[in-house]
Amino acid sequence: MQQEMTLIRHIMHGQSKHPEAKGNFSNILNQIALAAKIIGSRVNMAGITHLLGLAGDKNIHGESQQKLDVFADAVFYDVLDHTGLIAGMVSEEDVDIKQIPEKYDVGDYVITYDPLDGSSNIDANVSIGTIFGIFKRISTGDRAIESDFLQAGRKLEGAGYAIYGSSTMLVYSAGHGVHGFTLDPAIGEFILSHENIQMPDKCKNLSVNESNKMNWDKWTHKYVEDLIGRNTETERFISSRYIGSLVADFHRNLLKGGVFLYPADKRQKEGRLRLLYEAQPLAFLAEEAGGKASDGFKNILDIEPKGLHQRTPLIIGNTAEVEMAEEYVKKYSQAQKEEE
Ligand code: AHG
Ligand code: MN
Ligand code: MN
Repeated sequence: MQQEMTLIRHIMHGQSKHPEAKGNFSNILNQIALAAKIIGSRVNMAGITHLLGLAGDKNIHGESQQKLDVFADAVFYDVLDHTGLIAGMVSEEDVDIKQIPEKYDVGDYVITYDPLDGSSNIDANVSIGTIFGIFKRISTGDRAIESDFLQAGRKLEGAGYAIYGSSTMLVYSAGHGVHGFTLDPAIGEFILSHENIQMPDKCKNLSVNESNKMNWDKWTHKYVEDLIGRNTETERFISSRYIGSLVADFHRNLLKGGVFLYPADKRQKEGRLRLLYEAQPLAFLAEEAGGKASDGFKNILDIEPKGLHQRTPLIIGNTAEVEMAEEYVKKYSQAQKEEE
Protein backbone atom coordinates (compact mmCIF):
# COMPACT_ATOMS: atom_id res chain seq x y z
CA MET A 1 0.00 0.00 0.00
CA GLN A 2 1.34 3.40 -0.92
CA GLN A 3 1.51 5.55 2.19
CA GLU A 4 -0.10 8.96 1.99
CA MET A 5 2.10 11.90 2.93
CA THR A 6 0.26 13.25 5.95
CA LEU A 7 1.02 16.68 7.35
CA ILE A 8 2.67 15.17 10.42
CA ARG A 9 4.90 12.95 8.32
CA HIS A 10 5.83 15.88 6.10
CA ILE A 11 6.68 18.08 9.07
CA MET A 12 8.79 15.31 10.63
CA HIS A 13 10.55 14.78 7.31
CA GLY A 14 11.39 18.51 7.19
CA GLN A 15 12.59 18.32 10.77
CA SER A 16 14.94 15.41 10.07
CA LYS A 17 16.95 17.80 7.87
CA HIS A 18 17.58 19.87 11.01
CA PRO A 19 19.01 17.46 13.59
CA GLU A 20 19.42 20.35 16.03
CA ALA A 21 15.64 20.95 16.02
CA LYS A 22 13.83 19.78 19.11
CA GLY A 23 10.52 19.27 17.37
CA ASN A 24 8.97 22.33 18.97
CA PHE A 25 8.17 24.04 15.72
CA SER A 26 6.65 20.81 14.38
CA ASN A 27 4.46 20.52 17.45
CA ILE A 28 3.21 24.07 16.97
CA LEU A 29 2.24 23.34 13.36
CA ASN A 30 0.58 20.18 14.45
CA GLN A 31 -1.53 22.04 16.99
CA ILE A 32 -2.43 24.67 14.36
CA ALA A 33 -3.59 21.83 12.10
CA LEU A 34 -5.85 20.67 14.93
CA ALA A 35 -7.28 24.20 15.24
CA ALA A 36 -7.90 24.24 11.47
CA LYS A 37 -9.81 20.96 11.70
CA ILE A 38 -11.96 22.18 14.58
CA ILE A 39 -12.67 25.58 13.02
CA GLY A 40 -13.23 24.00 9.59
CA SER A 41 -15.75 21.52 10.92
CA ARG A 42 -17.61 24.27 12.75
CA VAL A 43 -17.60 26.46 9.65
CA ASN A 44 -19.17 23.59 7.71
CA MET A 45 -21.79 23.13 10.40
CA ALA A 46 -22.47 26.83 10.91
CA GLY A 47 -25.69 26.90 8.94
CA ILE A 48 -27.31 24.25 11.03
CA THR A 49 -25.97 25.10 14.46
CA HIS A 50 -27.19 28.70 14.66
CA LEU A 51 -23.67 30.01 14.69
CA LEU A 52 -24.33 32.40 11.88
CA GLY A 53 -24.96 36.04 12.51
CA LEU A 54 -23.47 38.62 14.78
CA ALA A 55 -22.18 37.98 18.27
CA GLY A 56 -23.33 41.44 19.28
CA ASP A 57 -19.90 42.91 20.02
CA LYS A 58 -17.59 45.03 18.01
CA ASN A 59 -13.91 44.12 17.78
CA ILE A 60 -11.08 46.56 18.39
CA HIS A 61 -11.36 47.93 14.84
CA GLY A 62 -15.04 48.77 15.41
CA GLU A 63 -16.15 45.94 13.14
CA SER A 64 -18.99 43.63 14.08
CA GLN A 65 -17.66 40.35 15.38
CA GLN A 66 -19.27 37.28 13.98
CA LYS A 67 -19.96 34.39 16.33
CA LEU A 68 -17.54 32.27 14.37
CA ASP A 69 -14.81 34.93 14.75
CA VAL A 70 -15.12 34.60 18.50
CA PHE A 71 -15.19 30.81 18.34
CA ALA A 72 -12.18 30.58 16.00
CA ASP A 73 -10.21 33.02 18.14
CA ALA A 74 -10.74 30.90 21.24
CA VAL A 75 -9.99 27.59 19.49
CA PHE A 76 -6.70 28.83 18.06
CA TYR A 77 -5.59 30.11 21.46
CA ASP A 78 -6.72 26.96 23.28
CA VAL A 79 -4.80 24.51 21.10
CA LEU A 80 -1.55 26.37 21.82
CA ASP A 81 -1.71 27.97 25.26
CA HIS A 82 -0.84 24.84 27.28
CA THR A 83 1.93 23.46 25.05
CA GLY A 84 4.82 25.15 26.82
CA LEU A 85 6.05 26.28 23.41
CA ILE A 86 4.47 29.73 23.16
CA ALA A 87 5.23 32.94 25.03
CA GLY A 88 2.17 34.86 23.82
CA MET A 89 -0.12 35.47 20.88
CA VAL A 90 -1.57 38.43 19.02
CA SER A 91 -4.97 38.01 17.42
CA GLU A 92 -7.03 40.32 15.28
CA GLU A 93 -9.78 39.96 17.82
CA ASP A 94 -7.85 41.26 20.85
CA VAL A 95 -6.31 44.64 21.43
CA ASP A 96 -3.63 43.32 23.81
CA ILE A 97 -1.18 40.47 23.68
CA LYS A 98 -2.90 37.22 24.67
CA GLN A 99 -0.68 36.02 27.49
CA ILE A 100 -0.18 32.40 28.54
CA PRO A 101 -1.93 31.51 31.83
CA GLU A 102 0.53 31.32 34.75
CA LYS A 103 -0.18 27.65 35.34
CA TYR A 104 1.49 26.79 32.00
CA ASP A 105 5.13 27.07 30.93
CA VAL A 106 6.05 29.62 28.30
CA GLY A 107 8.23 28.78 25.29
CA ASP A 108 10.41 30.43 22.68
CA TYR A 109 7.78 31.27 20.07
CA VAL A 110 5.13 33.95 19.60
CA ILE A 111 2.21 33.66 17.20
CA THR A 112 0.21 36.22 15.25
CA TYR A 113 -3.13 35.22 13.79
CA ASP A 114 -6.32 36.25 12.08
CA PRO A 115 -8.67 33.57 13.40
CA LEU A 116 -11.24 34.04 10.68
CA ASP A 117 -10.42 36.02 7.59
CA GLY A 118 -13.22 37.04 5.26
CA SER A 119 -15.76 36.66 8.01
CA SER A 120 -18.25 39.03 6.39
CA ASN A 121 -18.68 36.19 3.85
CA ILE A 122 -19.72 33.53 6.36
CA ASP A 123 -23.43 34.01 5.90
CA ALA A 124 -23.08 33.54 2.13
CA ASN A 125 -21.20 30.23 2.27
CA VAL A 126 -18.11 31.77 0.65
CA SER A 127 -14.58 30.48 1.39
CA ILE A 128 -12.97 31.92 4.50
CA GLY A 129 -9.78 31.08 6.34
CA THR A 130 -7.33 31.42 9.23
CA ILE A 131 -3.95 33.13 8.76
CA PHE A 132 -0.96 32.71 11.09
CA GLY A 133 2.67 33.73 11.54
CA ILE A 134 5.29 32.21 13.85
CA PHE A 135 8.25 34.18 15.24
CA LYS A 136 10.98 33.33 17.72
CA ARG A 137 10.56 35.69 20.62
CA ILE A 138 13.24 38.27 21.37
CA SER A 139 12.64 39.02 25.04
CA THR A 140 13.68 36.60 27.77
CA GLY A 141 11.33 37.45 30.63
CA ASP A 142 8.48 35.23 31.77
CA ARG A 143 5.93 36.98 29.54
CA ALA A 144 5.96 38.05 25.88
CA ILE A 145 6.23 41.78 25.32
CA GLU A 146 5.26 43.99 22.40
CA SER A 147 8.70 43.97 20.77
CA ASP A 148 8.47 40.18 20.41
CA PHE A 149 5.71 40.79 17.88
CA LEU A 150 7.04 43.93 16.23
CA GLN A 151 9.48 42.05 14.04
CA ALA A 152 9.93 42.41 10.30
CA GLY A 153 8.27 39.61 8.32
CA ARG A 154 11.70 38.45 7.17
CA LYS A 155 12.21 37.12 10.66
CA LEU A 156 9.23 34.78 10.46
CA GLU A 157 10.15 31.19 11.27
CA GLY A 158 7.05 30.01 9.47
CA ALA A 159 3.63 31.11 8.30
CA GLY A 160 0.54 29.75 6.67
CA TYR A 161 -3.19 29.63 6.41
CA ALA A 162 -6.10 27.30 6.53
CA ILE A 163 -8.83 27.77 3.98
CA TYR A 164 -12.34 26.50 4.54
CA GLY A 165 -13.66 26.09 1.02
CA SER A 166 -15.00 23.27 -1.08
CA SER A 167 -12.44 21.34 0.94
CA THR A 168 -10.40 22.39 3.96
CA MET A 169 -6.75 22.99 3.19
CA LEU A 170 -3.68 23.91 5.19
CA VAL A 171 -0.93 25.74 3.33
CA TYR A 172 2.33 26.47 5.15
CA SER A 173 5.95 27.32 4.75
CA ALA A 174 8.78 26.96 7.20
CA GLY A 175 11.16 28.61 4.77
CA HIS A 176 11.64 25.56 2.54
CA GLY A 177 8.94 26.01 -0.07
CA VAL A 178 5.19 26.30 0.25
CA HIS A 179 3.24 23.10 0.75
CA GLY A 180 -0.50 22.52 0.61
CA PHE A 181 -2.43 19.77 2.38
CA THR A 182 -6.05 18.85 1.85
CA LEU A 183 -8.13 17.49 4.69
CA ASP A 184 -9.47 14.01 4.03
CA PRO A 185 -12.62 14.18 6.14
CA ALA A 186 -12.99 10.39 6.16
CA ILE A 187 -9.80 9.93 8.19
CA GLY A 188 -9.44 13.42 9.65
CA GLU A 189 -5.91 13.87 8.28
CA PHE A 190 -4.32 16.56 6.15
CA ILE A 191 -2.79 14.87 3.10
CA LEU A 192 -0.09 16.47 0.92
CA SER A 193 -1.88 17.57 -2.24
CA HIS A 194 0.18 20.55 -3.45
CA GLU A 195 3.91 20.03 -2.97
CA ASN A 196 6.30 22.93 -3.39
CA ILE A 197 3.80 25.40 -4.83
CA GLN A 198 5.29 27.92 -7.25
CA MET A 199 3.25 30.79 -8.62
CA PRO A 200 2.62 30.40 -12.37
CA ASP A 201 4.57 32.91 -14.49
CA LYS A 202 1.51 34.59 -15.95
CA CYS A 203 -0.63 37.00 -13.97
CA LYS A 204 -4.13 35.90 -14.95
CA ASN A 205 -6.21 37.47 -12.21
CA LEU A 206 -6.63 40.95 -10.86
CA SER A 207 -8.18 41.15 -7.40
CA VAL A 208 -9.21 44.58 -6.20
CA ASN A 209 -12.36 46.08 -4.73
CA GLU A 210 -13.29 48.42 -7.56
CA SER A 211 -16.03 50.06 -5.55
CA ASN A 212 -13.27 52.08 -3.85
CA LYS A 213 -12.42 53.66 -7.20
CA MET A 214 -13.56 57.17 -6.37
CA ASN A 215 -11.03 57.24 -3.55
CA TRP A 216 -8.10 55.71 -5.40
CA ASP A 217 -4.86 57.55 -6.01
CA LYS A 218 -3.80 58.24 -9.54
CA TRP A 219 -1.34 55.33 -9.66
CA THR A 220 -4.06 52.83 -8.78
CA HIS A 221 -6.31 54.08 -11.58
CA LYS A 222 -3.48 53.83 -14.11
CA TYR A 223 -2.31 50.45 -12.85
CA VAL A 224 -5.73 48.81 -13.00
CA GLU A 225 -6.42 50.42 -16.37
CA ASP A 226 -3.14 49.12 -17.82
CA LEU A 227 -3.59 45.61 -16.47
CA ILE A 228 -7.08 45.38 -17.93
CA GLY A 229 -5.66 46.98 -21.09
CA ARG A 230 -3.73 43.77 -21.71
CA ASN A 231 -6.98 42.22 -22.92
CA THR A 232 -7.75 42.42 -26.60
CA GLU A 233 -10.99 42.06 -28.49
CA THR A 234 -10.16 38.49 -29.31
CA GLU A 235 -8.32 37.36 -26.22
CA ARG A 236 -8.73 37.86 -22.49
CA PHE A 237 -5.39 37.70 -20.71
CA ILE A 238 -6.55 38.99 -17.36
CA SER A 239 -9.76 38.53 -15.40
CA SER A 240 -11.21 40.39 -12.44
CA ARG A 241 -11.60 38.06 -9.48
CA TYR A 242 -12.41 39.51 -6.07
CA ILE A 243 -13.88 37.35 -3.35
CA GLY A 244 -13.49 39.71 -0.40
CA SER A 245 -11.72 37.04 1.65
CA LEU A 246 -8.03 37.87 1.39
CA VAL A 247 -7.07 34.29 2.13
CA ALA A 248 -9.28 32.92 -0.66
CA ASP A 249 -8.19 35.59 -3.15
CA PHE A 250 -4.56 34.91 -2.28
CA HIS A 251 -4.98 31.14 -2.52
CA ARG A 252 -6.52 31.36 -6.00
CA ASN A 253 -3.83 33.73 -7.22
CA LEU A 254 -1.09 31.54 -5.74
CA LEU A 255 -2.32 28.54 -7.70
CA LYS A 256 -3.44 30.25 -10.89
CA GLY A 257 -1.36 33.45 -11.07
CA GLY A 258 -2.61 36.88 -10.20
CA VAL A 259 -2.16 40.06 -8.25
CA PHE A 260 -4.24 41.21 -5.29
CA LEU A 261 -4.23 44.83 -4.24
CA TYR A 262 -5.76 46.69 -1.36
CA PRO A 263 -4.08 50.07 -1.71
CA ALA A 264 -4.19 53.06 0.58
CA ASP A 265 -6.81 55.49 -0.70
CA LYS A 266 -8.35 58.81 0.29
CA ARG A 267 -10.70 57.12 2.76
CA GLN A 268 -8.41 54.41 4.13
CA LYS A 269 -5.12 56.28 4.26
CA GLU A 270 -3.17 53.41 5.82
CA GLY A 271 -4.84 50.77 3.67
CA ARG A 272 -7.25 48.27 5.20
CA LEU A 273 -5.37 45.07 5.87
CA ARG A 274 -3.26 44.38 8.92
CA LEU A 275 0.48 43.99 8.71
CA LEU A 276 1.10 41.41 11.42
CA TYR A 277 -1.53 38.76 10.82
CA GLU A 278 -2.62 39.31 7.24
CA ALA A 279 0.14 40.88 5.14
CA GLN A 280 3.29 39.44 6.73
CA PRO A 281 2.34 35.74 6.70
CA LEU A 282 0.99 35.88 3.15
CA ALA A 283 4.03 37.87 1.98
CA PHE A 284 6.25 35.15 3.46
CA LEU A 285 4.36 32.50 1.49
CA ALA A 286 4.30 34.60 -1.69
CA GLU A 287 8.07 35.03 -1.64
CA GLU A 288 8.65 31.32 -0.96
CA ALA A 289 6.46 30.59 -4.00
CA GLY A 290 8.40 32.97 -6.27
CA GLY A 291 6.02 35.91 -5.84
CA LYS A 292 6.28 39.15 -3.94
CA ALA A 293 4.40 41.55 -1.65
CA SER A 294 4.80 45.28 -1.30
CA ASP A 295 3.11 48.29 0.27
CA GLY A 296 3.93 50.18 -2.93
CA PHE A 297 7.22 51.49 -1.58
CA LYS A 298 8.77 48.67 0.33
CA ASN A 299 8.76 44.91 0.42
CA ILE A 300 6.19 43.92 3.07
CA LEU A 301 8.75 41.61 4.67
CA ASP A 302 11.14 44.52 5.26
CA ILE A 303 8.67 46.75 7.11
CA GLU A 304 9.46 47.12 10.81
CA PRO A 305 6.04 47.14 12.50
CA LYS A 306 5.26 49.93 14.94
CA GLY A 307 1.98 48.64 16.33
CA LEU A 308 0.33 45.27 16.89
CA HIS A 309 -2.67 46.13 14.75
CA GLN A 310 -0.98 48.38 12.21
CA ARG A 311 -2.64 48.51 8.81
CA THR A 312 -0.77 48.48 5.54
CA PRO A 313 -1.46 48.91 1.84
CA LEU A 314 -0.91 45.53 0.20
CA ILE A 315 -0.01 44.49 -3.32
CA ILE A 316 0.72 40.77 -3.47
CA GLY A 317 1.13 38.16 -6.18
CA ASN A 318 3.27 37.70 -9.28
CA THR A 319 6.61 39.45 -8.86
CA ALA A 320 6.49 41.32 -12.18
CA GLU A 321 3.06 42.82 -11.47
CA VAL A 322 3.97 43.75 -7.89
CA GLU A 323 7.10 45.49 -9.15
CA MET A 324 5.01 47.17 -11.84
CA ALA A 325 2.82 48.57 -9.05
CA GLU A 326 5.90 49.90 -7.26
CA GLU A 327 6.96 51.67 -10.47
CA TYR A 328 3.50 53.18 -10.89
CA VAL A 329 3.54 54.42 -7.29
CA LYS A 330 6.85 56.14 -7.95
CA LYS A 331 5.82 57.57 -11.30
CA TYR A 332 2.33 58.79 -10.53
CA SER A 333 2.64 59.84 -6.87
CA GLN A 334 4.92 62.68 -7.91
CA ALA A 335 2.57 63.66 -10.75
CA GLN A 336 -0.38 63.62 -8.35
CA LYS A 337 1.43 65.83 -5.84
CA GLU A 338 2.26 68.36 -8.54
CA GLU A 339 -1.39 68.47 -9.63
CA GLU A 340 -2.64 69.03 -6.08
P1 AHG B 1 -11.54 40.04 8.28
O1 AHG B 1 -12.74 39.20 7.92
O2 AHG B 1 -10.48 39.24 8.99
O3 AHG B 1 -11.89 41.31 9.01
O4 AHG B 1 -10.78 40.47 6.95
C1 AHG B 1 -11.52 41.04 5.90
C2 AHG B 1 -10.56 41.62 4.93
C3 AHG B 1 -10.01 40.66 3.91
O5 AHG B 1 -10.28 39.32 4.07
C4 AHG B 1 -10.60 41.14 2.60
O6 AHG B 1 -9.67 41.06 1.59
C5 AHG B 1 -10.99 42.56 2.88
O7 AHG B 1 -11.18 42.67 4.25
C6 AHG B 1 -12.23 42.94 2.17
O8 AHG B 1 -12.45 44.29 2.33
P2 AHG B 1 -13.53 45.10 1.45
O9 AHG B 1 -14.86 44.59 1.90
O10 AHG B 1 -13.27 46.53 1.80
O11 AHG B 1 -13.23 44.81 0.00
MN1 MN C 1 -8.73 39.27 7.83
MN1 MN D 1 -10.67 38.16 10.82
